[in-house]
Amino acid sequence: MISRVVLVFVAIISLVACQPKKKEINFPKTDLTQVALIPKPLKTIATNSAFALDGETAIYTSTTDANFEAVGQFLSQKIKKKTGLDLGVNPTDGDTPVERVVYINQSDSEELSTPESYQLYVKKDSIFLNAKTAAGAFRGIQTLRQLIPEQTNDTLTDHPLWLIPTGKVLDEPRYGYRASMLDVARHFFTVDEVKKYLDILAYYKFNALHLHLSDDQGWRIEIKSWPKLTEVGGASEVGGGEGGFYTQEDYKELVAYAAERHIIIIPEIDMPGHTNAASLSYPFLHAGGKADKPRVRTDMLVGYSSFHTRKDTVYAFLDDVIREIAAITPGPYFHIGGDESHVTKKKDYIHFVEKVEKIVHKHGKQAIGWNEIAQAKISPSSVVQLWNDEPHDAINAAKNGSKIIVSSAKKMYLDMKYDSISEYGLTWAGMIPVDVGYNWDPKTYIKDLPEESVLGIEAPLWSETISNSAELEYLAFPRVIGYAELGWSRAENRDWEDYKVRLAKQVPYMKRMDIKYYPTKLVDWGE
Ligand code: ACM
Repeated sequence: MISRVVLVFVAIISLVACQPKKKEINFPKTDLTQVALIPKPLKTIATNSAFALDGETAIYTSTTDANFEAVGQFLSQKIKKKTGLDLGVNPTDGDTPVERVVYINQSDSEELSTPESYQLYVKKDSIFLNAKTAAGAFRGIQTLRQLIPEQTNDTLTDHPLWLIPTGKVLDEPRYGYRASMLDVARHFFTVDEVKKYLDILAYYKFNALHLHLSDDQGWRIEIKSWPKLTEVGGASEVGGGEGGFYTQEDYKELVAYAAERHIIIIPEIDMPGHTNAASLSYPFLHAGGKADKPRVRTDMLVGYSSFHTRKDTVYAFLDDVIREIAAITPGPYFHIGGDESHVTKKKDYIHFVEKVEKIVHKHGKQAIGWNEIAQAKISPSSVVQLWNDEPHDAINAAKNGSKIIVSSAKKMYLDMKYDSISEYGLTWAGMIPVDVGYNWDPKTYIKDLPEESVLGIEAPLWSETISNSAELEYLAFPRVIGYAELGWSRAENRDWEDYKVRLAKQVPYMKRMDIKYYPTKLVDWGE
């Protein structure tokens, strides 16, 4: 395969070389190591010249895997959005003059040690991006997008040039799982609002979006065999709004949109607590006993609801729900919730988690649950999401082979206020200013949790106080950009003083994307 790739590349380069020679341009000195890349790559090496991006640049990709061509198309669209240039992908007609090429190459180099690793070589007349998988190539083109300057150089030739600094970027993620969570249950977010969030997560190399699809205040995903879940349970939300839900077609559209960005969607049905909306739709699910009788709930209380854990009909219902959602979820995970089941007796809770985990396996998925599920005897294939300050059970689960997702509320909950003047957000886990969210490390923060047990990190955004994109963005940005770096970059490459300068340079991107970020005073935004 290598030799074929090299031959194709040599053919393209010769094509370029056969064009009548243009005058050598004397590029101003550049420094690739000084570009404000987020997340910070593993290694950058500058060679101080420039690749002049203009309309005579073409994108070529390996044709051994159709997904590489899709990555090329994605890059072309994004370059068009940023610069207006309309670059061909794998053009064959000789009419278009091609002076320079961007080549996205599938490589089996052993130096690419993870599926998302990539190597980017920027020279004066070619950019060569190597990756083992299309996911790696996709992460690499995010770096390339960030290397394209905001300003053109209009003095070197008769047309504008976007001067990309030459050099090398050798890069790979610290963690294989880098996610955010969106609570679409407390307030519903539309397909378009979720797509916008996905676009931005992709730019910063996230690879998973967890959707919290059910809670006491609302049920948000169509289940064809149990239609009242959305007819009844979907019609409410915090504060008394009309709620909403995704049809299965909507959900598939989100899954496909995420997949184009090499992001998996993780669906969560939170249970046995946080189930008032489901039990309101189908009262046989309700536990009775200490659990509150189901009614429309628009308040922000937690811990009062529970499924009945000893009825076969409840598990038959859950088999349908998990089967229908698993069938339209290509990712490997199904999130079973499991947090704050304060009115479920401990022995019933454990019985429930162990039974539901088996249903998840039956439908071909691995279970993820909030750290409370580690009180049960869970399978080593199940993943524990550590959110509170009680890591004991999660650490035991890790000893038994389970992987851990770190989502520490005091450091990572995007719904915590930044400071006392924050307009939205809660404070129960404290306030999380942008530097506090950035300046810590999972390895040292959670004592006794071995690094090899950490699957990755996830920044949850609970939505009790937010109900649209602008409010979502106020809480998520800029903090989630810091979590992108926490998940991708090595601890030794992260430094707040350096990061805050790079963060300020995200403003043109955030403006182009119309992101209503919180302009914290901890960063000099230069405006
Ligand atoms: C949680 O914040 N209850 C997982």
